[in-house]
Amino acid sequence: MLNFELYNPTNLVFGKGQIAKISDLLPKEAKVLITYGGGSIFKNGVYDQVRKALHGYDVTEFGGIEPNPRYETLMKAVEIIREKKLDFILAVGGGSVIDGTKFISAAVQFEGNPMDILQKGIRILDNAIPFGTVLTLPATASEMNSGAVITINETQEKLSFGGPALFPKFSICDPEVVASLPKRQIQNGVVDAFTHVFEQYLTYPHDALLQDRISEGILQTLIEIGPKVVENPTDYKLASNYMWCCTMALNGLIQKGVPTDWATHMIGHELTALFEIDHARTLAIIGPNLYRVMFESKKEKLAQYGKRVWNIADASVEEMATEAIEKTVDFFHIMGMQTKLSEYTQDYENTADFVVKRFDERGWKALGEKKNITLEKVKNIVELSY
Ligand code: NZQ
Ligand code: ZN
Repeated sequence: MLNFELYNPTNLVFGKGQIAKISDLLPKEAKVLITYGGGSIFKNGVYDQVRKALHGYDVTEFGGIEPNPRYETLMKAVEIIREKKLDFILAVGGGSVIDGTKFISAAVQFEGNPMDILQKGIRILDNAIPFGTVLTLPATASEMNSGAVITINETQEKLSFGGPALFPKFSICDPEVVASLPKRQIQNGVVDAFTHVFEQYLTYPHDALLQDRISEGILQTLIEIGPKVVENPTDYKLASNYMWCCTMALNGLIQKGVPTDWATHMIGHELTALFEIDHARTLAIIGPNLYRVMFESKKEKLAQYGKRVWNIADASVEEMATEAIEKTVDFFHIMGMQTKLSEYTQDYENTADFVVKRFDERGWKALGEKKNITLEKVKNIVELSY
């Protein structure tokens, strides 16, 4: 097993009716900025629960954080915090609101141009405004990790950043929020979490036996409950397992002591930046083709996944690995994904060249767990995804 450090200070408060606990988690004298998205929280009762729990607090609100949150929008919240000298942020929403809040938290006291945080990928080690979250969409695990992805409108770039100062102080995860989610968002959440596990699991055989078994457990659970929770989002058993799988897929645990890939996400982010395709759907387009192009490099792990997760009968490594990719594509289809870029846009022809040029400019010339996903391979992967 590789050496590792496990640091995760987020107080995760999980279960029915837990939003009422905000006042136990937040210092009484806090001057709070509530951040939210396009208004779903007003329709599903989450806003009312939050405001009730914040009775007596000094509260300001900032709404309008978009899916794929925009730098330009977030900077407006940064100004409000500076002006009103607010000292705590409460993100109420999905991955976009939480990611956006992480950026706001990092930018308020940042010395220099906040855009550098994104374009130079500056790690945020301190001086962040503390924040908590009320999760309304299980998918990203942003509620229990220290990373975020922000889009700059001006340059059409979608960029990741993070750092140990950006763990939420607490996150309230009430599975009852799943009831109001549109089917499309639940489908996205399941596929995003599924792919998070892939990025940390589908690499090459290694010595971290427990991490593999936990990863396989998350995948099996998502396969079991994913299609059902889309149809029955009010079923608490399904909703709570869906929510916990998503958090566990990217709260850092399964990543410890193992090699990781992340190239599907890196390429996928470009498709969102270019065509505004939902994050999870970009992963469903790219992931299977990445496994096809990198087949030689990943076939042992693909075969293990096929055997243990899909119960594929014993055969050669190549046969089991091939079937495992097919099973994955079938599952993505069952989860409502289209898996070809041309099913989302007719404007796809120069995409491979565009992505390669961007990666080249950023110096991303060798991706993946073995650094063998070269720019040529990236081109093959994207072209195979048309
Ligand atoms: O904006 P509102 O009105 O709240 O509506 C949202 C939004 O339109 C809606 N929604 C959320 N909760 C709801 C609800 N509608 C009804 N009922 C509810 N309970 O869902 C829509 C999508 O929300 P969004 O937050 O964009 O979705 P998601 O949680 O999938 O987040 C996607 C973003 O997270 C980033 C992605 O790149 C993307 O920008 N990621 C963040 C990661 C991280 N921080 O670790 C890792 C991921 O790989 C990912 O890259
Ligand atoms: Zn993701």
